[in-house]
Amino acid sequence: MAALISSSFFLTYFLLSLCLAWSLDGKATTAAKSHKTHQTHHTLQLSSLLPATICTPATKEDNYNEGLLKVVHKNGPCARLHQQDQATGSPTDDQLLEQDQSRVDSIHYRLSNKLSPHNVQQTDGTTLPAKSGSVVGSGNYIVTVGLGTPKRDLSLIFDTGSDLTWTQCQPCARSCYSQKETIFDPSKSSSYANVSCTSSSCSDLTSATGNTPGCASGSSTCLYGIQYGDQSFSVGYFSKERITLTRSDVFDGFLFGCGQNNRGLFGGAAGLLGLGRNKISFVQQTAQKYNRVFSYCLPSVSSATGYLSFGSGGKVSSSLKYTPLSTISLGDSFYALNLVGISVAGTKLSIPPSVFTSSGTIIDSGTVISRLPATAYSALRSAFRQQMTGYPSAAAVSILDTCYDLSSYSSARIPKISFFFGGGTVVELDPQGILYVVRSTQVCLAFAGNSDDSSVTIFGNTQQKRLQVVYDIGGGRIGFGPASCS
Ligand SMILES: *[C@@H]1O[C@H](CO)[C@@H](O)[C@H](O)[C@H]1NC(C)=O
Repeated sequence: MAALISSSFFLTYFLLSLCLAWSLDGKATTAAKSHKTHQTHHTLQLSSLLPATICTPATKEDNYNEGLLKVVHKNGPCARLHQQDQATGSPTDDQLLEQDQSRVDSIHYRLSNKLSPHNVQQTDGTTLPAKSGSVVGSGNYIVTVGLGTPKRDLSLIFDTGSDLTWTQCQPCARSCYSQKETIFDPSKSSSYANVSCTSSSCSDLTSATGNTPGCASGSSTCLYGIQYGDQSFSVGYFSKERITLTRSDVFDGFLFGCGQNNRGLFGGAAGLLGLGRNKISFVQQTAQKYNRVFSYCLPSVSSATGYLSFGSGGKVSSSLKYTPLSTISLGDSFYALNLVGISVAGTKLSIPPSVFTSSGTIIDSGTVISRLPATAYSALRSAFRQQMTGYPSAAAVSILDTCYDLSSYSSARIPKISFFFGGGTVVELDPQGILYVVRSTQVCLAFAGNSDDSSVTIFGNTQQKRLQVVYDIGGGRIGFGPASCS
């Protein structure tokens, strides 16, 4: 019996190692060489970087059950939000990268103390300063939540960089953009209530939105106004409503914006779910139940799905590595952490630690391309280029200046990149988090530099792809786990 177990164990082990060696290196040269290569490089199938035209959602077997909200990209086949945009089509990569730069500009502007709050009046919208940048651009991953009684399902962009949750509301007194679902009608919900402009929750809007709330004329309804770095905005009534995440997770009296005047690049989403750090964010309003813990996994391509989960009971990888959560001055909505170094192909770049400490670093679900201090980016870029000399280079695209023509390859050998965070935490980026594919003839390093070393460093969503990212705000830490969704 023992002999049988050990021989079948041996056989399994033998087959397994054979499979591993086979799959890790298609050309299977010597075992020694392939082993060394695997510590420093990924072999990436290029087809895995390109989104399919149909959505392949995660299945029940992948644990997408109770308590997990499905995360989809707003412009992909899993969202199906852009039927209305047929005329204009989906945004081009140039447009997407420009919007990303607008978001980054508004983050930098917000952290530079140049803001003075604007007063919201009932007529507002056209009078909101178009680019005050008080809140950052709108982000691009979507979840569906239920609002009201009876509950109406709405697709909302979730954003760790802002606090106020809002949706477009009937009667759209000034303007609503076209969205996928029917616009929320508070008069058809039995649990809807306006918030008074003399209440303390109304006053909390000033720090959450950067605008001083107003009072609706002829009533005491609190008016909010919020604008994003990409010139999107929402203005309307500050309200309370029942919000439903899953069958067992229902919250009464949730504070949100019922938008009467809305414009923006929300890609057909009904509004926004604010997961920032400030008082009125969803995370703070549900603190009693979830203890200010949430996590997500962003899918590798827009034709796959990820998840967003609240509380610590969800899907938590056993191999999570934590780094201390910190703060950044003037950025009380943002989650900050300490980036201390970067390695490329197993070699740590020689970047003076002061470069990272003087800029500070935030993690953001809405910024697409990570932004590094100028000095750090140029070190990363030259190390990456050195590793990629075997591939023909291609023209730059918008903010991405290191691109390759990989159209005649089916797979590419790309250097591994790891981020070193405070507390000795090393996070190896998923291979899907290193490249941005415009087309097979233009595959680019998915990082960009800030114009200097003092603007904040941003750990963006491309680099977070497929990682499980856990925000444990009560515990003062952020955790990272490997390959947690497709
Ligand atoms: C909320 O306030 C607005 C503006 O004063 C008003 O038109 C609307 O009827 C109010 N809704 C409820 C349910 O009180």
